[in-house]
Amino acid sequence: MQFQNSLAFARQMDASDKLGKYRSEFHFPKVNEEEVIYFTGNSLGLQPKRSQGFVDAVMEDWASLAVEGHFHANKPWWDYHERLSKPLAKIVGAKPQEVSVMNTLTVNLHLLMVSFFRPTGKRFKIICEEKAFPSDQYMLKSQLRFHGLDPKHALVEIKKRPGEHFWRTDDVVKKINEVGEELALVLMGGVNYYNGQVFDMKTITHAGRSVGAFVGWDLAHAAGNVALELHDWDVDFAAWCSYKYMNSGPGNASGIFVNERYLNKVDLPRFEGWWGTKKETRFLMKPEFEPISTADAWHLSNPSILSLAPYLASLELFEEAGMEALVEKQGKITAYLEFVLHEIAKEVSGNFEIITPKDRGCQLSVLLHGEGKSLFQYLMDNGVITDWREPNVIRLAPAPFYCSFEDMYRFGQILKSGIIRKG
Ligand SMILES: Cc1ncc(COP(=O)(O)O)c(C=O)c1O
Repeated sequence: MQFQNSLAFARQMDASDKLGKYRSEFHFPKVNEEEVIYFTGNSLGLQPKRSQGFVDAVMEDWASLAVEGHFHANKPWWDYHERLSKPLAKIVGAKPQEVSVMNTLTVNLHLLMVSFFRPTGKRFKIICEEKAFPSDQYMLKSQLRFHGLDPKHALVEIKKRPGEHFWRTDDVVKKINEVGEELALVLMGGVNYYNGQVFDMKTITHAGRSVGAFVGWDLAHAAGNVALELHDWDVDFAAWCSYKYMNSGPGNASGIFVNERYLNKVDLPRFEGWWGTKKETRFLMKPEFEPISTADAWHLSNPSILSLAPYLASLELFEEAGMEALVEKQGKITAYLEFVLHEIAKEVSGNFEIITPKDRGCQLSVLLHGEGKSLFQYLMDNGVITDWREPNVIRLAPAPFYCSFEDMYRFGQILKSGIIRKG
C-alpha cells in the first residue's frame, strides 16, 4: 500500500478500519483538554469502559451475598477464573486446559521454574537474551543461587553483534547447540521490551527442546500484541502480564501456559496450594493433593476476583474483535507510523533511528541521536504519551485496539514541531 503523510490519507485509513469502532470502548486521558495520543499500551493499556461494570458486579455481589457469592453470585467466585481460559487460549494459541490466570508475572515465572528448572550436576545452565527485562534477570539469577549455582557461570546471555541493535536467530540457535547437554532451560522474552523485537519462538523452542532443555517464554510484551502458537510451537511453559496490551488494569493478574504434556502429572515438582487441587474434593479438606487436570493445578490461593473482573471484561473485547484482526491492524498501523517517522526525518533532517527490526509487533523503539529528554518532555506536554528509556530511546507502541491512523499523522506533526523548535 502506498502511504501518504497527510491528514486526509490517515482519515481515509481510519474510515476503512474494521476495528476503528473499538476506540470508543476505551477511556482516554486528556492533556490540554484533548484526548492524548497513547503510545504506552506496552506498559499499561487504556481502561476499557466496560471494566467498571464487571468490577461493580463483583462489589454488588459481595455486598448482597457476602460469603454466599462464592457459589451463588451471578458469576460464582469459586470458578470465576475458569471463564478466562478459553478466550486467553485463543490469544496465545493454546488449548483452554493449557492456560490459567493467577498471581503476577514474576511470581508465576518463579513458580513455573519450580517445575521446569531442575538442574542436575551436568545439566544446569540457563540461556536468556542479554539485557533481558531486569525482573527476569533478578529472577533467573536468584533461582540459580537458590540451587547453589553461580550465575556468572550458569547464566548464558545471548549477545547482539557489535554495532547491531537486534538479536539474530542463528546466534541464539548456535549458542543453544554449543551449551548442548549442559543446557537445562531457555527462558527469554518473546518480544524484547527495549527494542520491540519478536524472537523466532518456534525455531528457538525447537532448538532448545532438541538438546533436551525446557523452553519457556516471558510473553509480557507479546500477549495480545503478536500472533502466538504456543501449543503448536511445542513450548513447555510461558507466562505474561495482562496490564499491557491486554488492558486489564495496573498490576493485574498474570496468565500462564503449561504444555498439556505436563498436565495430570502427580510426580511433577510443583509448589502446591488448595486452589490447585481438584474442585470436586477441595472442600473435603483432606490432606492429599490431587492436581486439577488443567494448568489450574499451578494455582496456590483462591484468586482475587476483583482483579479477574476487569481482565474478563477485556477478554470479552478480544473475543469480539478477534486476535487475527488485531494482528492485521497492528501490522498496518505500525508500518504507517514507521512511514510517518521516515517522512518527518526527511523534512527536518532528523537525527533519529528506528532500532526495532522488521520482526516486530506494534512497538517501534526510536533512538534519538543528539536529541535528549527535552524532546520527550515536549511530546508529553503536547499530548503524546510515550516512554523514555535510558540512555536515549523513546518507545512508541500504537496498540491497534484504540490507536488511530490519524493519531500517527498527528504525532508526526507534533514530533516535527518538537524538533524544529530547537532550530
Ligand atoms: C518483559 C517483562 N517481564 C517481567 C515484567 C514484570 O512484571 P510483574 O511486575 O507483573 O512481575 C515486566 C513488567 O513490565 C516485563 O515487561
